[in-house]
Amino acid sequence: MILVTGGAGFIGSNFVLDWIAATGEAVVNLDLLTYAGNLRNLASLRGNARHVFVQGDICDRNLVDRLLAAHRPRAVLHFAAESHVDRSIHGPGAFMRTNVEGTFALLEATRAYWSALPGGAKAGFRFHHVSTDEVYGSLTPDAPAFTESHAYEPNSPYSASKAASDHLVRAWHHTYGLPVITTNCSNNYGPYHFPEKLIPLMIVNALAGKPLPVYGDGRQIRDWLYVTDHCSAIRAVLERGRLGETYTIGGGNEQANIDIVHRVAALLDELQPSAAGPYARLITHVADRPGHDRRYAIDAQKIERELGWRPTETFETGIRKTVQWYLANTDWVADVQSGGYRDWLATNYAAR
Ligand code: NAD
Ligand code: DAU
Repeated sequence: MILVTGGAGFIGSNFVLDWIAATGEAVVNLDLLTYAGNLRNLASLRGNARHVFVQGDICDRNLVDRLLAAHRPRAVLHFAAESHVDRSIHGPGAFMRTNVEGTFALLEATRAYWSALPGGAKAGFRFHHVSTDEVYGSLTPDAPAFTESHAYEPNSPYSASKAASDHLVRAWHHTYGLPVITTNCSNNYGPYHFPEKLIPLMIVNALAGKPLPVYGDGRQIRDWLYVTDHCSAIRAVLERGRLGETYTIGGGNEQANIDIVHRVAALLDELQPSAAGPYARLITHVADRPGHDRRYAIDAQKIERELGWRPTETFETGIRKTVQWYLANTDWVADVQSGGYRDWLATNYAAR
């Protein structure tokens, strides 16, 4: 079996669902269930003996030691993190704790477990660290896309904490020989995406007739990847990736935020038109994010060349599926729009 951290979040829950469907191999899922974690994402696995959910903190070394000893996983896949840049600007402490200290605790627990494994199991073991393209900083308009050898230049508390975790993972390989692989992926989108992030926020605000808040001029560029393509990339890297290596993962799909918002609005016009008129009428430019990175783009040639991975969704197929998912899952959306969610909207948007 494998141990997944953060498997009740957006990408982690998509990964667990995808993993069990694709491989049938059991998963122990360790997740603290912060505001971003949601067991509803995993409802289809209720009663499935291949999924063992444990609510707990990756910073809790005793708990992680006990889980490793009890379940004897062949790999640890580390998704758990504080993941929202705007929240890291308002409160960086939680990012240092989970992303830096939590990764440290997990590495130490894994090292102790892995060191004591018998030969074959030890040789086959993997620690897969799920990271982000934001560690590389911001690209100028004509600069080549990020590759694995790009310098680390994190600009936000979030990306600095992820960069720190990447460095810890690298050092545990270099110093202790821990069999690690790190992947640095671009912006994901798809089902179960928490509506604090751009695409789901635009969908749920539009449906509620609320403003669609675009930071600054909206010309910032991201490279969007449908979440299940990220999941298939991680599976490929876990099975065939080279130890100690990093792999960048991206959709080859650079788009400006304002164009994304217009596309979402147009899809909603088609799928659930509003009597009040086109959803694009709700677009509102608001104060920019401090330190906002202007452009991310991924050069994914290494993973394609070495592992034969490529995304299967285009942006057009992926964004249509995503909007349809939100239209079909209004209960899920209502459930996550708790008091805490409303407090966050007030914190982030009221003064913009
Ligand atoms: P998310 O915020 O949706 O989910 C994070 C999950 O981690 C939640 O279920 C939360 O409960 C859990 N968690 C948080 N702190 C924890 C702790 N101390 N102990 C145990 N569990 C804890 O995040 P996501 O968007 O699914 O991102 C998953 C990973 O992928 C992160 O490491 C992130 O940096 C990385 N990543 C995300 C994107 C993206 O576009 N979302 C892109 C590239 C990389
Ligand atoms: O690049 C990978 C990263 O992508 C991940 O590591 C992060 O965990 C993930 O949150 C995401 O970070 P971004 O900051 O790029 O995603 P977000 O959805 O928050 O914002 C996308 C772009 O949209 C960004 O340029 C900011 C802008 N934006 C965002 C929000 C929430 C707006 O214009 N308005 C908004 O209300």
